[in-house]
Amino acid sequence: MTMPKYETGRAAALALRPDEPVYCFRPSVLARDVATFLSAFPGKTAYAVKTNGEPFVLETVAGAGVRAFDVASRAEFEAVRAVAPTAEQLYMHPVKSLSDIRRALETFGIRTMALDHPDEFEKIRLIVQALDLDPRTISLFVRLATKGHAAYELSKKFGAAPGEAVELLQRVDRAGFRAGLCFHVGSQVEEISTYDGALALAASVRRQAKVDLCGLDIGGGFPAPYGRDPRGPEKAVPDPARLVADIAADVARHGFDDLELVAEPGRVMVARSLSVIVRVLLRDGKRIYINDGIWGSLSDSWTGKITLPARLIPDPARRRRVGDPKRLEDFRVCGVTCDSVDILSRPFWLPSTVDTGDFIEIGHIGAYSLSLRTRFNGFHPDTFVEVEHAFEDDPDGLEGFATVETWGEPVQEAVAGENG
Ligand SMILES: Cc1ncc(COP(=O)(O)O)c(C=O)c1O
Repeated sequence: MTMPKYETGRAAALALRPDEPVYCFRPSVLARDVATFLSAFPGKTAYAVKTNGEPFVLETVAGAGVRAFDVASRAEFEAVRAVAPTAEQLYMHPVKSLSDIRRALETFGIRTMALDHPDEFEKIRLIVQALDLDPRTISLFVRLATKGHAAYELSKKFGAAPGEAVELLQRVDRAGFRAGLCFHVGSQVEEISTYDGALALAASVRRQAKVDLCGLDIGGGFPAPYGRDPRGPEKAVPDPARLVADIAADVARHGFDDLELVAEPGRVMVARSLSVIVRVLLRDGKRIYINDGIWGSLSDSWTGKITLPARLIPDPARRRRVGDPKRLEDFRVCGVTCDSVDILSRPFWLPSTVDTGDFIEIGHIGAYSLSLRTRFNGFHPDTFVEVEHAFEDDPDGLEGFATVETWGEPVQEAVAGENG
């Protein structure tokens, strides 16, 4: 897809004066964030396609050096094959349809899958037998439920309890498959010690199962920087290179350094690569109604209770303004659809002068924005431009900025800070 190019989101907003949301894609930011993770992680990095499966994103991710992809459906198998035909695909959805298991094995040559239940194992075993495949060429990762704090807890839905995981590993091994262990500590992890806890649990399951493992997959969850409530404490999200180095040290401490290590990062790679320019359709006191919302690009921030960084781009056509452009206030954000739940769970911090007709650039929405948008009420943002500068590096400075978190604090300090 060829996209019109602009230096910044602000330049795009002022040139286009868009009345519908416009996504600003930053390929150089994406390539940089992918490269940071790849160089820090000492194992196989499988990008989680669900996070953002747009072809231009997958192309940039593959172009930056990713050779493996975590996929969950037929559409994702096809999307990866279209941009990276030789890339390895890992089918890490624990509950799959029979037809997709068959398609994965037969048509897409997928040889790695996850499961967390004996019936799922039986489904896979029977299809492998029907296709006359050698189980020793297939790696089945048993997903372990973990505990911890994240914006999205994923173990409420998936993952075997430790005793069940031991039995599943033994069953997989007995049937001649290669057995692996995996977990997902939840998306946008809030306590970094969560990984250590999950690794300790995995080590105890391994000791009890007493089977030869082919690998350990530590999933995703690595946090991305978002916005900051100015009333709250200064926050910095752990630098991914430091975070991954610390997790790798934990992996070794728990005795997993003899195994192939896999990670399935999503958010940490793509969050910063997209922003969206929206328009204020109406200001009503401390409420603003915008032309996007939870059924469009902003569902992830709604469910994950994530404060997004938002920059006001005042409409130059508006002559009269009320308020102080230097005073930031919290505005309740109402989405564009008729649904009354379409109100963001966190406010936007904007200059008090924001008014009907102004533009807002919402930053760091690259993860779970495009993939979760719907056509509800006929609204479906789908316009893209390419932008050069990172959201936080607008050469016009931080004017109109709400607050943006940065990568940064060493992990230990961040954890010590959180614990007081
Ligand atoms: C199996 C699996 N792997 C990887 C991811 C990516 O997680 P994140 O975006 O938090 O890195 C997810 C997210 O839900 C997932 O379910």
